Amino acid sequence: MSGNERSRLLGAAVDEELARALGRVVESVDGGKVADGIPELADVDPDRFGVSVASVLGRVYGAGDTGVGFTIQSASKPFVYAFACETVGTDAVHRSVGVEPSGEPFNAISLDELGRPENPFINAGAIVTTSLVPAADAEERFSRIHEALSRFAGRELDVDEEVYTSEADTGHRNRALAGLALAAGSLATDDVDSATDPYFRQCSLIVTTEDLALMGATLANGGVHPLTRDRVVGERAARDTLSVMATCGMYDRSGSWAFRVGMPAKSGVGGGIVAVRPGEFGVGVFSPPLDEAGNSLRGVAMLEELSARFGLHMF
Ligand code: DON
Repeated sequence: MSGNERSRLLGAAVDEELARALGRVVESVDGGKVADGIPELADVDPDRFGVSVASVLGRVYGAGDTGVGFTIQSASKPFVYAFACETVGTDAVHRSVGVEPSGEPFNAISLDELGRPENPFINAGAIVTTSLVPAADAEERFSRIHEALSRFAGRELDVDEEVYTSEADTGHRNRALAGLALAAGSLATDDVDSATDPYFRQCSLIVTTEDLALMGATLANGGVHPLTRDRVVGERAARDTLSVMATCGMYDRSGSWAFRVGMPAKSGVGGGIVAVRPGEFGVGVFSPPLDEAGNSLRGVAMLEELSARFGLHMF
């Protein structure tokens, strides 16, 4: 048997395992609620469910709705954090945003004793992180973030303009969080909109589970995309990002997630989750109904299933 044939058969076996795991989760986990905080997001088909795995060697496996696009939402935050660390240095980022799990919901009002949001994955910290990307204005800031996230995915990502407009029209709480950070001295821009506008756009980028898996695999691979071989960020920025994902990625469920799944991860209210097995692979999952913490209900169950069945827990 040739090497190619062997890897094709192995790939088919992995795809089958993933399909079986999806089936088990569909049978055992139901409920949750599709996000309605952003009006346009409520239109999504709740039954979509897909999983992709991308290895650092560039092999991609998957089952279910792996080609369906959805908005990345908060799963954009680790990649913007990595890009900010790479661009202005982790120490400078750290002066404006902490790395402590907040134990609070994603939209909490959060400032520590130094006037910094607790971590870069709650909205307050993510907006500050976005503001740290050097640019003359909001448009240039988003264009740099867009390019960076596209390089993480290995292809040019599109913006869902309807979701963007819907969030920009209704994102008063996020603008308020940015205003508090500006008053506390941690926002890097001198007005709120040049941070929140690129933030709303980054959340509206459309990805598939395959994109999320490859973005995660790029972090797993020390910042180098496994297929394009593009060095998107340095090893230090990739490691710093995975560390914060391990402690803060699932909001006020970060502790139980570390306990049960044991992989750095980040969820988004669009129903996506990206998880990483450092040095090995990235996983992307998509299922829109969410639990009370804003994490995909079936997505969490799927990663628990994969972690338990394939011994992926890091500890
Ligand atoms: O800023 C917001 O509220 C949304 N664009 C993203 C929130 C989010 O994805 C929280 N995650 N689970």
